[in-house]
Amino acid sequence: MTDTLSKSDDRLIVALDVPNALAGLELAQRIGDPVGFYKIGLGMLTGGGLALARELIDEMDKRIFLDMKLFDIGNTVEAAVKGLAHYGLDFLTVHGDPQVVRAAQEGKGSSDLKILAVTVLTSLDRDDLDQMMITPGDVQEIVVERARRAMAAGADGVIASPHEAAMIRALPEATGKLIVTPGVRPAGAETGDQKRVATPAKAISDGADHIVVGRPIKSAPDPRSAAEAILAELP
Ligand code: C5P
Repeated sequence: MTDTLSKSDDRLIVALDVPNALAGLELAQRIGDPVGFYKIGLGMLTGGGLALARELIDEMDKRIFLDMKLFDIGNTVEAAVKGLAHYGLDFLTVHGDPQVVRAAQEGKGSSDLKILAVTVLTSLDRDDLDQMMITPGDVQEIVVERARRAMAAGADGVIASPHEAAMIRALPEATGKLIVTPGVRPAGAETGDQKRVATPAKAISDGADHIVVGRPIKSAPDPRSAAEAILAELP
């Protein structure tokens, strides 16, 4: 899967979880060639996130995953995605409700943007789902079923914890779809607030196409070496 001719291994996506575009650009420059794919999230939206996306694409030939987790009425989601489809982004997240996914697919039109569905936020447990009046049952089963429905509704892939990757990969609806997993930690690393973590190698061997890693790279004394060490762990 790794293209030996390319400089970067795009199975690794680095989360640019920094407050503004300047800090994001600086981090991407420090990391350099080994990483070709970056995630920009809501935390940077007011700090020039979209401008940074364009700069990384146009000036540094990087790929961008815009993690917006859109959720609204279909008409609004469609309009938002239509606007974003001109940015040259690779991935965009929406919540995995079928009506949201269908609206996002309408909005992306003929662009190459991939719509990835978020199933259940990893910060939510059963108590939280009860508060939200979400159907009773095991959280993992709900995640897998929401992933199935999102893909059946046309999502190009899903965001999943490494612990759900294998079960989602086994779904018939997952054929040809992307699985992108955060919650990845190199062996022996600090877990931070990520409770259900797996190593990069395990996530990939369980069926993930891409892993998303933030703090272990961002907070490392040498982010480039930290990224290279993670890439060296990939099968
Ligand atoms: O933990 P780390 O810094 O590697 O997180 C990278 C990305 O994973 C974050 O940008 C966030 O989107 C996601 N994340 C998550 N669940 C958490 C914490 C972070 O899915 N509990």
